[in-house]
Amino acid sequence: MRFQGQVAIVTGGAGGIGQASARLLASQGARVIVADLDATAGEAVAAEIREAGYVATFHPVDVSVYEQVEALVRFAVDTYGQLDIMFNNAGIFGDGSQNVIDLPIDVYKRMISINQDGVFYGIKAAAAVMKERGGVIINTASIYAYIADKNQLPYHASKAAVVGMTKASALELGRYNIRVVAIAPGMIDTGLIDAWREDERVWNTIQKAHMRRKLGTAEQVANVVAFLASDEASFLNGHAYFVDDGAASFKR
Ligand SMILES: NC(=O)c1ccc[n+]([C@@H]2O[C@H](COP(=O)([O-])OP(=O)(O)OC[C@H]3O[C@@H](n4cnc5c(N)ncnc54)[C@H](O)[C@@H]3O)[C@@H](O)[C@H]2O)c1
Repeated sequence: MRFQGQVAIVTGGAGGIGQASARLLASQGARVIVADLDATAGEAVAAEIREAGYVATFHPVDVSVYEQVEALVRFAVDTYGQLDIMFNNAGIFGDGSQNVIDLPIDVYKRMISINQDGVFYGIKAAAAVMKERGGVIINTASIYAYIADKNQLPYHASKAAVVGMTKASALELGRYNIRVVAIAPGMIDTGLIDAWREDERVWNTIQKAHMRRKLGTAEQVANVVAFLASDEASFLNGHAYFVDDGAASFKR
């Protein structure tokens, strides 16, 4: 088993990408902590993993509060004795309704506090534990760290910061044998982009933003997450890896 004996935390583990990743890591031997703001959905994901015969526990977290992220990491160590994989994946998306001039400051700050601060807190708390025996930290960025869409400034800012923090922390944590990498997904068919589903024209446009005219699935992203977490990726460090069917590489 790829992750036999290892312990993984997946934030945003109740949602699309986190849920698929938690399932895959657990099915490959990791003991997984499903961490999310949504306790009902998170408990259900952990229960479903256990029913399939693997090891998972739910732990509540609001990643925008450092003390809660620290408590989550402490829970992993207290429960399973170690932490090997930290997937900082929880995030929110803008509703796309406000341009830079009209954007309320609190809307901007909320996005940054979850998508950016939450990842920083996850890196910081996990590294403090992993420095004893090494580990892998994976952060969820987005193609929106690299290409812009209208009315999504806070999301772009937060995801570009995730890429920057991935590089900066990989550089500092290498000496502890901690790798830090990020994924930059294209549009993935999860609850995050439900608002776009309602309008057929918008949905068709985002499908066409990919080279094979289709959104990705959470499982396709989870496969990359598991690869990055594994020893097969032992020379991958300090970069964000696109999981986007080429979406960020062509002119629309
Ligand atoms: N779906 C896409 O098209 C897409 C594309 C690129 C990047 N991403 C990123 O992937 C990550 C996962 O998104 P998803 O598509 O699975 O969305 P999702 O909405 O299905 O899942 C996100 C999860 O994060 C949780 N969450 C939100 N705020 C939280 C907080 N403060 N603390 C803890 N948990 C919180 C939610 O409860 C939810 O379970 C996000 O960071 C998102 O920005 C998604």
